[in-house]
Amino acid sequence: MAQERIDKVLSNMGFGSRKEIKEKIKKKVVTVKGEVVTDPGMKVDPESDEIVIEGEEVIYRKFIYLMMNKPQGVVSATFDNHDQTVIDLLPFDYKAFDPAPVGRLDKDTVGLLLITNDGELNHKLLSPKNHVDKIYYAYLKEDAKDEDIRAFEKGIVLGDGYKCMPAGLTISEEDRKEVHVTLREGKFHQVKRMFHARNNEVTYLQRISFGPLRLDENLEEGDFRELTEEELLALTNEKN
Ligand code: URA
Repeated sequence: MAQERIDKVLSNMGFGSRKEIKEKIKKKVVTVKGEVVTDPGMKVDPESDEIVIEGEEVIYRKFIYLMMNKPQGVVSATFDNHDQTVIDLLPFDYKAFDPAPVGRLDKDTVGLLLITNDGELNHKLLSPKNHVDKIYYAYLKEDAKDEDIRAFEKGIVLGDGYKCMPAGLTISEEDRKEVHVTLREGKFHQVKRMFHARNNEVTYLQRISFGPLRLDENLEEGDFRELTEEELLALTNEKN
């Protein structure tokens, strides 16, 4: 791995701002391969050099992979002038990795959002040729009809003329306003526009799965956790 400045490495790993790291270096509490660091610009290889800060060994990792249960009212972006973003909900230690959401959920949509700084995986999961299945739970204004199931299977034509790929629709037997939709693509406002094209409206939308990932029921809205090794493996196997 390329050599990087020690202050940058430690800051990116969440040990403090560049200024705070410089202070710690002044206090002689940072060592590299057993030697006290005196120069914040010292070049290190974070993957192979043993780095210790305040007695704690730095376990270097390049990428983070988080599952968030996105709440309503925040936008799926890294920065926004008006609204809070999903990245704003993360503590500094994670923000330091510069992560980004994989795709978007609308501001009022809740549920599973993957967040990572692994740009290559992000790109591949979103690539149209990968067709990662996403499952949504939706609550509708009107009862869903059996004809809707067939229309979804055939491919809904949206208001702008775009013909969607075949999608799955299941309707709850207890309440026909409760449905699950499986999409293999991710156009802007797609679920809402598909029901709009069927003269119905979505009043609540939650994503419950993304490829092999299922929304963790223990995550409250606004909470997140790191993916487990099994989840990450399943996700990386998903891409071509
Ligand atoms: N479809 C929508 O309409 N909105 C979302 O947030 C996701 C899928």
